[in-house]
Amino acid sequence: MSQTISIDKLITVDGPSGVGKGTICLLLSHQLNWPILDSGALYRLTACAAMSDGTQENDHETLERTAIELDVRFESGDNGLRYFLRNEDVSEKIREEATGNMASKVATVEGVRAALLDKQRSLATDTGLIADGRDMGTVVFPDAPLKIYLTASAEERAERRFKQLKDKGIDVNIRDLVADLTARDERDTNRKVAPLKPAEDAVVIDTTELSVAEVEAQVLELAQQRFS
Ligand code: DC
Repeated sequence: MSQTISIDKLITVDGPSGVGKGTICLLLSHQLNWPILDSGALYRLTACAAMSDGTQENDHETLERTAIELDVRFESGDNGLRYFLRNEDVSEKIREEATGNMASKVATVEGVRAALLDKQRSLATDTGLIADGRDMGTVVFPDAPLKIYLTASAEERAERRFKQLKDKGIDVNIRDLVADLTARDERDTNRKVAPLKPAEDAVVIDTTELSVAEVEAQVLELAQQRFS
């Protein structure tokens, strides 16, 4: 079904796992007062539903049906959005590594992507949207007026994730993190449908050698140039 999408006030932020898209989207959201579409959460919710149903990753037909019938609800809580799947609060569960891995497999299924496409587009409104994902600028919102693509080496992203987890008291092996991120990059980049890549008109920012403040400054300048 085709939809009229409101794209005057839309920023897409794409890039691989662990590159800091979430941080940058939050900054833009606060600055512009526009909501965030966390498209990864939709894939994670689909993965969560499939896992609780015991659906296998190669059962594409059932995965597609799961995405079509996805019974989700979002509520704002003290620390951001809470995610409900079939009336159960799965906000923590969708962030677990196992769910992320399943999400990256579920996201290779064409029928799943098609089912989630309209759900994502329906969230674009006249009051603005920051769209966070892998194919926001290439497939979901190809006419967005500002497209940002963040990248960084797998080693640097693993290092950042390692520090985050350590701060939370979670013990992980950095080599496992690099291996996990590299496997996800492979799947996200090499899948046939909507692979991870910068849109031709995206501004690509390699954040490997940049501090968060430096990335934030660049992104804010781009947003100001485009929308003020
Ligand atoms: O951004 P994230 O880690 O929450 O995303 C989870 C998985 O979902 C990721 O491995 C790739 C997939 N994904 C996708 O294919 N397309 C998107 N627009 C967002 C996420």
